[in-house]
Amino acid sequence: MSDIVYLNGAWVPRHEARISPDDRGFLFGDGIYEVTPAYGGRWLALDRHLGRLARGATELGLQVPPGLEQLHAELLERNGLMTAPMAIVYLQLTRGTAPRTHHFPAEDTPVTLYAWAKTFSRPDPERWSKGWGAVTAPDQRWARADIKTVQLLPLVLAQESARRAGETDALLVRDGLMLEGAHNNVFFVLGDTLITHPASNQILPGITRGIVLELARAEGIPCCEAPMPLARLPEVSEIFFTGTTTEVRPTVRVNGEPVGDGRVGPVTRKIHEAFVARVERECGVPLPV
Ligand code: PDD
Repeated sequence: MSDIVYLNGAWVPRHEARISPDDRGFLFGDGIYEVTPAYGGRWLALDRHLGRLARGATELGLQVPPGLEQLHAELLERNGLMTAPMAIVYLQLTRGTAPRTHHFPAEDTPVTLYAWAKTFSRPDPERWSKGWGAVTAPDQRWARADIKTVQLLPLVLAQESARRAGETDALLVRDGLMLEGAHNNVFFVLGDTLITHPASNQILPGITRGIVLELARAEGIPCCEAPMPLARLPEVSEIFFTGTTTEVRPTVRVNGEPVGDGRVGPVTRKIHEAFVARVERECGVPLPV
């Protein structure tokens, strides 16, 4: 399988791609990124992913180069992924290469644009039915978690704590509230209501989160965007994480304690079914397992 990446106007094999050590993404984490899924060569909500990128760029004063839709399409084509059951495109935009100063570089400094594509495997249904586990981890991020910056160190540390505990997801807690995962959003079922943290500066407004909220409302499931205190975890009957690479992932234990009865619950199943149906409708392919 070829692995051709895009870097600043050139298409090169990944192992030949080079950026300067003075790139501001490397020196300062001065950049943003997106991860967009394609099923059978068709995008799921590419417009929303590019919209979030544009919003982040505006917030940070970064220029978004034109032609990103075409770039996404070409990444799939050049890498033979048009018929892949599932693929993702990673795109990163930084404030370019310049002598190190904290303030912005000269206005004519070109941004660095790097993007690649690869196949992605969906979880097998048997594993899905058993569910996964999570650990709580402190949220140590800056005050603009709503911008998808490449400054991921707090999330790297949180995810590593999950891995060391032998679990799959990290549940970020700040000021006693369960906010989201290290690379996904989180939903709780409390009574008959589906709850997720409001889209504020404290979480990334996940594209999958938005789709899941739409699906839940269409299914008639009561939904509420509200803070969820860690102290109420014992009352929660179901938890699932959502994200581009996570899709809808049930969590049956947190810190070794069962969530509800410790099994994947009916609301999670309903949302997952609706999500699969949405992908099949939007991408025109039966979802591989
Ligand atoms: N992560 N929250 C955080 C902190 C994330 O990094 C992500 C995405 C999400 C889910 O967003 P979406 O549904 O738009 O993928 C929530 C990507 C996939 C990543 O870092 O690889």
